[in-house]
Amino acid sequence: MAKKKTTQRSVQWFGREDIYGFIYRSWVKNRGVPQDQFDGRPVIGICNTWSELTPCNTHFRVIAEHVKHGVLEAGGFPLEFPVMSLGETLLRPTAMLYRNLASMDVEESIRGNPLDGVVLLVGCDKTTPSLLMGAASVDLPAIAVSGGPMLSGKYRGTDIGSGTNVWSMSEDLRAGKITLDEFHEAESCMHRSHGHCMTMGTASTMASMVESLGVGMPGNAAIPAVDARRNVLARAAGRRIVQMVKENLTLSKILTKQAFENAIRVNAAIGGSTNAVIHLIAIARRIGVDLKLEDWDRCGRGVHTLVNLMPSGKYLMEDLYYAGGLPAVIRELGEADLLHKDALTVNGETIWANNKDAPCWNREVVHTFGKPFKKNTGIAVLRGNLCPDGAIIKPSAATPKLLKHRGRAVVFENIEDFHRRIDDPKLDIDETCVMVLKNCGPKGYPGMAEVGNMPLPPKLLKKGVTDMVRISDARMSGTAYGTVVLHMAPEAAAGGALALVENGDTIELDVAKRSLNVLVSDAELRKRKSKWKAPQAPLARGYWKLYFDHVLQAPEGADLDFLVGKSGPLVPRDNH
Ligand code: FES
Repeated sequence: MAKKKTTQRSVQWFGREDIYGFIYRSWVKNRGVPQDQFDGRPVIGICNTWSELTPCNTHFRVIAEHVKHGVLEAGGFPLEFPVMSLGETLLRPTAMLYRNLASMDVEESIRGNPLDGVVLLVGCDKTTPSLLMGAASVDLPAIAVSGGPMLSGKYRGTDIGSGTNVWSMSEDLRAGKITLDEFHEAESCMHRSHGHCMTMGTASTMASMVESLGVGMPGNAAIPAVDARRNVLARAAGRRIVQMVKENLTLSKILTKQAFENAIRVNAAIGGSTNAVIHLIAIARRIGVDLKLEDWDRCGRGVHTLVNLMPSGKYLMEDLYYAGGLPAVIRELGEADLLHKDALTVNGETIWANNKDAPCWNREVVHTFGKPFKKNTGIAVLRGNLCPDGAIIKPSAATPKLLKHRGRAVVFENIEDFHRRIDDPKLDIDETCVMVLKNCGPKGYPGMAEVGNMPLPPKLLKKGVTDMVRISDARMSGTAYGTVVLHMAPEAAAGGALALVENGDTIELDVAKRSLNVLVSDAELRKRKSKWKAPQAPLARGYWKLYFDHVLQAPEGADLDFLVGKSGPLVPRDNH
């Protein structure tokens, strides 16, 4: 009987009856894999970002086991492999510097190995975009499984949220409102279980993006890391990826422009992180979707924040899950006609089929579209002489009265300058000023650190000031808040007008008009530009040098220029 013809790529390794087939199979057998595993069944990679250096992902070995069970149950052959893991809290100078490096690891690990499909285990902030970017450039069938948020932080009878309360408590400490002992106690209370940050920070936002893009299973965003249903979801993903390989349901069939537009609207509805702007653009450009900064403004207009979660509100991810999770939010958007309902998802159903009947159990946490938590809160894209290529602000996290503001610039040339002077009681600053931070963009930091939400000067904190307009080419943590303009492009280190701002200049922000300008004449700016000197690469060799020479600006996703696009799954030669 003629052998059944299969197009699965793993057969090019394991289906061979020659010296290469021997090599490809024999070494895999060394851990007890029987011959019948090489009968042409789908080989599923489990791309694991487990690392003790990434505390948010330390339970991923358990999740990987559940994915494996699912793959085996569906008749697949699971093979787990590690990739570079990016921990937000320990990596210096910022995990974002390495997002593109990790994506290269992911891309080449998938392409170079005998895999037909892949499950991506993602959690801490950058692990989600780096794995999706790498997988997109190969374009095999793929499902992302998020590790899930931690349980809510509990401190002296109140809920405290990752990041969000770190910012507020450190300001309280600096203002003398709490003791160092209380500060230490809060550290132990905040992160008390496995999982990633449980505010609507970048990790929870990206887990929500996974679900709304359709690259994750329904329910992916909010199930707590330690809830048994997180493991059930992992198992279901393991089962499903085997079918996706048989259906040849590749990532590019899921990651369409419609899927990205859905995700942008979901980001507005959850009060999601500004970091999603950069990450989604980078993922889109890998898969070949033309996603621009303007799409964020266009799609986000008229979308309200429905979810009352920190940092925009008061609840945490655990509460969101018990209230119905992201499906309850997506249903509201669909009923408000703000969803491309036909967008396909990894479970083979449309996003609307997955979410149209989703219940909501707590309207305090997930508001209806008719009675939203905050109105018109999509990411606003600003332009002006300070940011001709764009800048963004998250209105839901800002102080409404500061969204139109004119003030005197107080300039910090770089992050060291900021740290040196911010606590100085003689710093010439009041609450009407605009804090300006330079040289913290993709090239300038390097890696575009999350320092855009500059802490306020202690002397103003002590007066009770809680927010000021702050502008920079940096990012900010998804857990942060304030009237903070970010991602200004071109960045200062690339010669953007931000580099030319001087102390005492007047800066005008008008979010309704989408404008940000320095009120200085063009002639004066030209004069200042003639004296500006481009910075050198921070290191003359290695990845930092490669990054500095090739990183794109924020509106292009801050990817490396030569990584944009995809090369597909083809590997031309055998390895011996
Ligand atoms: Fe890992 Fe926040 S530090 S998600």
